[in-house]
Amino acid sequence: MSIENIEKRKTPIFHYGITIFLAATLFVCVFSPDSKNPLDRLRQDWLGAKGPGNTTEEMEKLCTKNLVPPQPQESHDDNFTMMIRKAAMDDKRVILTEVNQAFSAPNSMLDLFLESFHNGEDNITHLLDHLVIVAMDQKAFEKCKSVHHYCYLHEDVGSDLSSENVYMSKAYIDLVWTKVRLWQLILEQGYSFLFTDIDVMWFRDPFRHISVYADLTIATDRFFGNPEDHSNHPNTGIVYAKPTEKNIEVLKYWREARQRFPTTNEQTVYHEIKYELSSKFDLKIQYVSTEYWGNFCQPNKNFTKLATFHPCCLVGLEKKIAQIKIMTEEWKKYKSISLKS
Ligand SMILES: *[C@@H]1O[C@H](CO)[C@@H](O)[C@H](O)[C@H]1NC(C)=O
Ligand SMILES: *[C@@H]1O[C@H](CO)[C@@H](O)[C@H](O)[C@H]1NC(C)=O
Ligand SMILES: *[C@@H]1O[C@H](CO)[C@@H](O)[C@H](O)[C@H]1NC(C)=O
Ligand SMILES: *[C@@H]1O[C@H](CO)[C@@H](O)[C@H](O)[C@H]1NC(C)=O
Repeated sequence: MSIENIEKRKTPIFHYGITIFLAATLFVCVFSPDSKNPLDRLRQDWLGAKGPGNTTEEMEKLCTKNLVPPQPQESHDDNFTMMIRKAAMDDKRVILTEVNQAFSAPNSMLDLFLESFHNGEDNITHLLDHLVIVAMDQKAFEKCKSVHHYCYLHEDVGSDLSSENVYMSKAYIDLVWTKVRLWQLILEQGYSFLFTDIDVMWFRDPFRHISVYADLTIATDRFFGNPEDHSNHPNTGIVYAKPTEKNIEVLKYWREARQRFPTTNEQTVYHEIKYELSSKFDLKIQYVSTEYWGNFCQPNKNFTKLATFHPCCLVGLEKKIAQIKIMTEEWKKYKSISLKS
């Protein structure tokens, strides 16, 4: 049969048929129930506005996800990564911390934490422009928004995370594991993070103690002189990670290892798997001396060196706050003396 014959056989009714079929397909594409995401809808509307293709095959392409970049599954995560993007420095670094109701009460950790930047040396207040605070409950979120620009409400957590979580309680353990998930999300977006516990006081810029050599940089409770030695006692109250594929795999492995050590926090699991991590992934880890990232477990307290101070090895929120206040006064005294001299 020649092409001419086919052309002749096409009746107007046949044309209407095709038009109706195409219109129906387009309708299904744009208003299909799986386009819950408004962004998705927008994209499809935009494609629709360009006009349908000429064949049903092209129409089907509009329906498939081939043309649309893959959509992240959880919209909570969308909001989180959007905030990370906004808060990041030019070189894609962000600072991350977590807070709950107890730690965000007036004159509690959140206030002390933010204040420490203003009392810092080397003008570290600008680092606050790159800090994302993850609030673990509504009260902490409200408080955060009243004192800081980048606050993210984490809503996916099962346990009640608003109280001062007893060390190693279920709520406490859930809390520490959500942070590892957020770390992974940040790296997957191509950003590096410096995670800091909310009770770490910042005196100077801690980035000065992170080398480009290491994949992961971790604070210590006790430091024995060699930054690469796993026998240093790690403390995940401050962690820095480069945005590499290797580190993403490492965090996945770390999170999965939780199942092997149930009812254990992320720091203890890290301690259990650190040799596995170095050998499996050829992971380069740098442990930071307590001279620079200080604490009460191995107090050095030489203010000419100290960048941060973490009241670990002290139990109880009240006690920590009291000690931090003493420390802050000492630091201010040091600063005023060193300014005069
Ligand atoms: C549809 O067909 C017309 C005429 O054959 C052609 O010029 C046009 O490029 C086609 N459009 C698409 C989207 O393929
Ligand atoms: C994401 O952010 C928008 C705008 O800030 C907000 O309206 C929406 O509820 C957030 N969605 C989720 C799932 O957190
Ligand atoms: C500290 O940084 C802020 C913001 O970047 C700037 O406005 C201020 O002038 C700086 N202060 C000093 C003493 O460098
Ligand atoms: C503190 O550190 C500085 C700089 O390294 C050093 O010169 C000084 O001796 C130290 N002070 C004490 C008391 O160890």
